[in-house]
Amino acid sequence: MRLDQTSIEPTRLHLWGPHAALEIRCPLPGVLRLRHIPSSLTAGFTHPRLAPKQPFAVVTDEALPLQARREGGTLHVTAEGVSLELTLETGAWNFRNAEGRTLARCESVSGESAPNMPFNHYRSRLSLHAPEDEAYLGFGEKVGPLDKRGMRFVFWNTDIQPHHPDTDPLYISIPFSMGLREGVAWGFFLDETWRSEVDVAYGDPERVKWETWGPELDVYLLSGPHPADVVGRYVTLTGKPPLPPLWSLGAQQSRWGYESADEIRSVVQAYRSRGLPLDVVYLDIDYQDAYKLWEWDRARYPDPAALARDMAKEGVRLVPIINPSLKAVPGYRPYEEAKERNYLVRADSGDVLVGEVWAKPATFPDFTREEVQRWWGDWHSDFLKQGMAGIWNDMNEPACFSLLEASGSVSATGARMNEEVQRTEGKTLPFAARHGTRRHVEVHNIFGMGMVKAGYEGFRRLVPERRPFLLTRAGFAGIQRYASVWTGDNSSHWEHMELSIPMLLGLGLSGVGFTGSDIPGFIGRPTPEMFARWTQLGVFYPLMRNHGAKPMPFQEPWRFGERYLTLAKAALERRYRLLPTLYSLMHEASQNGLPILRPLLMQDPSDPRALRAYDQFLFGGDMLVAPITKPGQTKRLAYLPKGEWLEWSNLDTPGAIHAGGQYVIADGPLDTVPLWLRAGGAVALTRPAPHTTTANWEHLEWHIHAGDGVNATLYEDAGDGYGESRTTTLKGSFDRGRLVLERRVQGTLAPARQTETLRIYGLKGVRSITGALELRGVVNGVLEVPMSANWDRLVVTS
Ligand code: GLC
Repeated sequence: MRLDQTSIEPTRLHLWGPHAALEIRCPLPGVLRLRHIPSSLTAGFTHPRLAPKQPFAVVTDEALPLQARREGGTLHVTAEGVSLELTLETGAWNFRNAEGRTLARCESVSGESAPNMPFNHYRSRLSLHAPEDEAYLGFGEKVGPLDKRGMRFVFWNTDIQPHHPDTDPLYISIPFSMGLREGVAWGFFLDETWRSEVDVAYGDPERVKWETWGPELDVYLLSGPHPADVVGRYVTLTGKPPLPPLWSLGAQQSRWGYESADEIRSVVQAYRSRGLPLDVVYLDIDYQDAYKLWEWDRARYPDPAALARDMAKEGVRLVPIINPSLKAVPGYRPYEEAKERNYLVRADSGDVLVGEVWAKPATFPDFTREEVQRWWGDWHSDFLKQGMAGIWNDMNEPACFSLLEASGSVSATGARMNEEVQRTEGKTLPFAARHGTRRHVEVHNIFGMGMVKAGYEGFRRLVPERRPFLLTRAGFAGIQRYASVWTGDNSSHWEHMELSIPMLLGLGLSGVGFTGSDIPGFIGRPTPEMFARWTQLGVFYPLMRNHGAKPMPFQEPWRFGERYLTLAKAALERRYRLLPTLYSLMHEASQNGLPILRPLLMQDPSDPRALRAYDQFLFGGDMLVAPITKPGQTKRLAYLPKGEWLEWSNLDTPGAIHAGGQYVIADGPLDTVPLWLRAGGAVALTRPAPHTTTANWEHLEWHIHAGDGVNATLYEDAGDGYGESRTTTLKGSFDRGRLVLERRVQGTLAPARQTETLRIYGLKGVRSITGALELRGVVNGVLEVPMSANWDRLVVTS
């Protein structure tokens, strides 16, 4: 990619040569954007200005100052916190941080194009040197361990069922990766919606090769140095996740195959009569009238508003499913309107594309267009008036089982075409399908996100006093701005349960922190033990949903016998105790993008053993969870990274304290999830409840492992809406047996606190205590201190 001409402007550099172009900008401190166009001559771009791009993933359009200096064949670029050296002859570059350390070295950029057959084909490629000791994390929703080195992936949203531990691609495409070497992290984001691929030192152990089928490689390079800095910058680029309503963090029950409103009522009744916590029930496609979106089967769901009202009395919210396929039948309003307004995706021939999903024949609104999004958003109105609390968007890759003729049938040519499409494109629309002026191959990956954005914005317009809740299966980089994500149709296999951990951790590092996997597996029959273990793990999924497939046996908590019901109840109650911390972490994520589930490397990025630990995770910054993910196991090996860790299984009685940097054997009998609390960690819990009400907690327990550097935040508000809030920060130091805790409260929300207790672990004895209501001694290593509602300082000398 030869670039011999340069045009240097204060916030933008243009470089171009006979066949290629490059634009460099600095959108944020520590971030460079490089728009490479390696085959620009044939792509028809004009120089030196590149045509503006419609942003889908990126939310910032800032352009910070850049300095550039040409020295022979090299261009030296510096911007805030980063620099780049570019070889003009080849287009290769070195990306460095402020200290001059090379974070990434691009060895080549190349491209080919074949115009107009039947639409423009491109292959644009970029190859990075992969130092032997560099790990590659992120990549969104992918299988495999945390470090994806030695794997290759395709970015093409795909409905795949069942998926296996090596299946790729899955439902979501996030072409983002984090490099980590010698404890220093950096990020690479390929902002291309086109079908793309990455070979992570798979074919060539010394190279990471990115390829997209578009004419450009629009790349963002992000500096660290800490992995949390990279995630923070990536989320500043692609958007912060909004704080969801508290109820969406409660327990959720779902099943494809709840046949009627009466069945929904009886499920909720069964929860309540057993004293099981529950906040949400999903309504799967069974409620729809012949798979027509927005229409109820009135024989089975005669009065949705009454159902929603009755459920609300039980503290339960309803979340119905909405797919992106409109049944093509005369007189069906959403379809007629979409057709009339020219909102539907068209086939290459120019006719409206007709396919088959659940609805047959089915057509697809073109969610890549703003006017279609707005129109779609308004369709949520009736459901919201009926009292539906959120929306579940499924099949939005989009899934399309087969293509039909306009008549709704498949001809012999159609059958051949289907075979071709299934083979090359997956169960979706053909590459050449038309979205206005774009082809499907360009916008496929953002189709689902367009749908979810439409719903999110519809919610904001229609019920501005409420926080939207959407759950989606498909998405692209930036999906965290609109919805929670679940990982699609998993199976009741122990391997899938384990796989959910690195998968959710990878999503979290890719900006998507509000996630969950179907508990205890969507397809297949879980054993009672698997059900119990998966529910225990699910306590820590940011989204905790029990969901199963229609032909499978039921898998609600009472379907496995008394013993397992008791275990599930204990797990669900643990989830509700954890809500003050989970909610505060969700709030933190809305500020800095940090996920709730974090890989151990967040605690020590330079520790290779922390990097390898993919079946354990940090919950926030202070808790480490190592769930049992194998049948018959009652002990497991767990790695504790640097720090001191107190055994605190089940958030219960504390055990021994272990130094970090070592493996320990943890006890995990069937009723136990091995868990540790970091020295200096402070976690807020409340009491179990049948369902959520407010996030202004009446009863609060702080659990503190005495150690230096306590720094915890509790965020409280009404649990929904955009009203008053209160933030409590707890800071503390621990020096020679003296623990000092200081509490600061900010915000206007009046406290609802009836009781507040501090449980302090890790003290040997107590000689004096000031600032508390009562003085109690240390019993079994725990100092329990009831506090007044407005305490601000506590000093314990031990
Ligand atoms: C898809 C979804 C699944 C849902 C089913 C029926 O398979 O992934 O969650 O239950 O469709 O709507």
